[in-house]
Amino acid sequence: MKHLIDLMELTQAEILEILALGKQLKSEVKAGRRDPIFAGRVLGLLFEKPSLRTRVSFEALISQHGGSSLYLGADVGWQQREPIRDFIPVLTSYLDFLVIRAKSHEVVAQAAEYSRCPVINGLTDYSHPCQALADLMTIDEIHGLKNSRIAYVGDANNVSRSLAMICCRLNVPFTIAAPVGYQFANEWIGELNSATTARQPLIQQTDDPYVAVRGANFVYTDVWASMGQEAEHAKRAKDFATFQVNEKLMATAAPNAKFLHCLPARRGEEVSAEVIDSDRSVIVVQAENRLHAQKGLVAWLMTK
Ligand code: CP
Ligand code: NVA
Repeated sequence: MKHLIDLMELTQAEILEILALGKQLKSEVKAGRRDPIFAGRVLGLLFEKPSLRTRVSFEALISQHGGSSLYLGADVGWQQREPIRDFIPVLTSYLDFLVIRAKSHEVVAQAAEYSRCPVINGLTDYSHPCQALADLMTIDEIHGLKNSRIAYVGDANNVSRSLAMICCRLNVPFTIAAPVGYQFANEWIGELNSATTARQPLIQQTDDPYVAVRGANFVYTDVWASMGQEAEHAKRAKDFATFQVNEKLMATAAPNAKFLHCLPARRGEEVSAEVIDSDRSVIVVQAENRLHAQKGLVAWLMTK
């Protein structure tokens, strides 16, 4: 049995298998074919934070192929009514898959240890692997993985961490631009680079958004203050004021460069309305691919 807590646990071949399965199932659904590959399977969603995309894409993907889902919010008493060591084995004895969105990454990793079925990280304070799978599926569809260079303008957070991990595994050049104080530890960037087979460092960071974006095929951003960081919003808005993805910054990217955002977005903060609402923006396709990439993941986990 396998889980997906973080993308570094998967090999390049495994990530490519998941993406290929997702792509195949996407083309079948687009052609009107919905084989009952998940018939009788039950997917649980244990969520401690709000969600549109993650929740609905998982619920939809299991139903499209004959399975069903259960959304479990605060009323099940997770981390309150009983300890994880009782809660998780009982819950997962009813389920075939469990997606967890939690404040603490450690809690999700711990849940996987006690689980009787595959656990999928549906976002923690540390990482968001399902988002990164959909992002790389989108990049592959639009420009091909081999020819793409990604610039991420924003803080070292769950979304950029998973992106850096998947780019490391798939050998896609990735540069993050963040103010000093909001960057990854240089040691971690070094570890990622030594895990690649590339001769030059593929994963880089800078405090200059123009350095990151120059010539990039994809420019990605996320909110300046993530869920749980609302109290830091004013300070972050000041610290990131020169990190907005706007027309001026996009003009330095490759011709035909596309704009990506995991959503939800704040127009006028991390991205200008003119960029997010322009033809360069592929945010809706990117969000749709959450469903297809995660379907590939669930189908793949079922075989392990
Ligand atoms: N991008 C993403 O995970 O969206 P939700 O928070 O709506 O699930
Ligand atoms: N970094 C954001 C991503 C939301 C999908 C957050 O954690 O709130």
